[in-house]
Formats: sequence, C-alpha cells, structure tokens
Amino acid sequence: MKNILIGVTGGIAAYKSANIISILKKKGYNVKVIMTESATNIITPQTLETLSRNRVVTDMWERNHQVEVEHISLAEWADVFLIAPATFNIIGKVANGIADDMLSTVISASKKPIYFALAMNVNMYENPILKENIKKLENLGYKFIESDEGFLACNVNAKGRLKNESEIVEIIENEFISKTSKILKGKKVLITAGRTEEALDPIRYFSNRSSGQMGYSLAKVAISLGAEVTLVSGPTNLEIPSGLKEFVSVRSAIDMFHAVMERFDEQDVGIACAAVADYRPKEVSEQKIKKSDSELTIVFERNPDILFNMGKNKKEQILIGFAAETENIVQNAQKKLVKKNLDFIVANNAQNMQKSTNSIQIIKKNGESIVFEESPKSEIARHIFNEIIKEVQKK
Ligand code: C5P
Repeated sequence: MKNILIGVTGGIAAYKSANIISILKKKGYNVKVIMTESATNIITPQTLETLSRNRVVTDMWERNHQVEVEHISLAEWADVFLIAPATFNIIGKVANGIADDMLSTVISASKKPIYFALAMNVNMYENPILKENIKKLENLGYKFIESDEGFLACNVNAKGRLKNESEIVEIIENEFISKTSKILKGKKVLITAGRTEEALDPIRYFSNRSSGQMGYSLAKVAISLGAEVTLVSGPTNLEIPSGLKEFVSVRSAIDMFHAVMERFDEQDVGIACAAVADYRPKEVSEQKIKKSDSELTIVFERNPDILFNMGKNKKEQILIGFAAETENIVQNAQKKLVKKNLDFIVANNAQNMQKSTNSIQIIKKNGESIVFEESPKSEIARHIFNEIIKEVQKK
C-alpha cells in the first residue's frame, strides 16, 4: 500500500488533519506525520500518533541525532507528501529555501510529489507575497490545493478555509491513479453537466435543481485517467476542474446543443449528465414582463434533445446517458437507453440532484445491470468510469 507523509503546520485548521489521517487509514494507506511546533499547540501529537498508528515527528526531535537521518528517510519513505493545513509561513519558507525545522527540512530533502492544502486568514490569502511564492513553487512542480470559501476562525465568511477533508484525500488519490494508470490517455471525452436556464425576459428564467456535482466529478475522474476532457457546463456554483482540455460555459439548452454538436464527432466518449430543460418559453420578452391583475400564460416549446441527437450522429463513440426519475426508475431508463442509442444508462433518483451523494443503477445495452449503493458522487464517478473503460477496451 502507498505511503503518505502528512505535514501539519500551525494554522487553526490543524485539528482537521486528524480527519484526513483517519480517512486515509480507513482506506488502507500507511501514514506518517510531521508536526511543526506551533501545530502541537492546536492538536496533540498523541492524537495524530493514535490515528496514524506511527510515531509523530515534531520539532522536539530536531536535536536528536537519529532524526538527522530521519529527515532523509522520511522524505524517501513517502510516495506523496501532503502539507495540510499549509500556512502562509511554510509556503514562504519553502519558496525561499529555508529549512529551519523538521517539516521544512524534510520538504527540502524530498523529491516526491508535494501538495500544499492552503488554509489561512483571508488577508494573508490575498497577500501578493503568498501569490508570488505559490507561482514560484508551482513553476518548480509543487502542487496546491485551493482553500474553500467559508466561515473562518477570524469571524468572517471568506476564502481561506481548508478544503473539505474527503476532497483533499480524493486529490491525493488521483496522484496515484495518474501515476499508475493513465488508461484513457489519448481518448477524448465530452461531458455535459449542470442545469440549463431558459430565459423568459431579461431577468427571469426557468431552470431546475441540478448542482452539477455528478458531471464535474466525472470530469475529474476522466482527467485523472489521462483523458482529454471537454466539459460543457450550464450554470453551477462549482470550481472548474483543473486539467480540462476545454471548458465550455453555456446557459440555455440551445447553447448546450450547439456546443455539443460542434464537438461530438471528434470524441471517443460522450456522457450526457446535464439536467437539460425539455421546454423553453416560446417567446423571450425583450423587456421585463410587468405584472398585471390578470393571469399570465406562458407558452413553452420543445428544446432539442441533445443526447438523442448525439445517439443519432454516433459512429464509433461510446455514449452514456443519465436518467433522473422520480418513479419507475429502471423501466424508464431502459426505454431511454434504446431510444437514445446508448451504450449504457445511469439510472438514479431525481431526489439526489442537489446532494453530494448518489446511488445508481447502470443498465447496459446487453441487459446487464449493476447497482451501486449510496456513496459520494466522486466515488460513483469512479464506478461509472470503470464501466466506461470496459466499453473502451471492447472497441
Ligand atoms: O429523456 P430525458 O430528458 O429524461 O433523458 C435524460 C438524459 O438525456 C440525460 O442524460 C440528459 O443529459 C439528456 N438530455 C439531453 N437533452 C435534453 C434532455 C435530456 O441531452 N434536452
């Protein structure tokens, strides 16, 4: 199993390192921890020792002769090195070649992939010194896990909060996948994601509750497998995944239709995950519609079915659709599989649209059907790609 070295610095988010270590241990990784002295004021080495089931190295050991050797052996032991949380201070030190404690010394002695998961006060986060240090380190191959926006210890709602622990673990795991099996290298994958917005007037639109999480998770997995990924996305609140070949931002179903059809011919795999509006207002008023005392009738017309058209134009491509149903999930999915000329369809309950978890049933052209119980969308995306890989290998 892989060895993961965790560096914990003295940001208030240091306590969250306990959860990262615990998730990694549950997944079966070997974990060793180095703490800075200030980190030990926030969470005790004993806690991280118990969770990692390994002796935690802190600065206290620095004067110990054995540790002089340990900083080299730890650097070599690790397959990947994660610093979480990574403060303004540690980034400043590494960017300027300072190795004055155990953590910065091991970082300076390491030739392994190093990830910094940023967490700090928003003013520090926006400080141009940090930005310059990050740029410098990125050019040298160090990787950064951006902070999220959220409620910070300094009582403000802003950017600077450590990214969710499971997402950090997912990013680290992708490092292994990309190293070991870029199995979709050279394959072009187009994914539609998110919702569409169908305008009624300059300020109003019809839409749905899709968050876009499933499609974005699929894009991230496809990138980690080495694919050239085009993500055609309706509006979402999500961060654009890094490593895409192309990100196409669209609003309406018509926009999405054109964006997809222009690009579908050259693809190897198409995945229609977007929750596309079936109808749009027939007339879009140029001016804001004024209220009156009478009823308002809006006439809707059909939007093109993007996936149906992909199925019609399909040559060698593998085509996957989703079926978000509220009733008769499997029967309805089967009908769509045939009608839209798909290789397989992912049936799920429409109620999971806004959630970060999903439970699915994959139904294949040959009748085979596989159920995946409720789990995070990132994991569901992996299961879906395992099935896509099987289809790619059949070609
Ligand atoms: O027929 P239905 O809309 O339920 O099928 C859902 C599947 O079709 C999803 O994969 C969705 O992305 C796709 N779809 C589409 N264009 C539409 C409607 C749905 O691509 N206009």
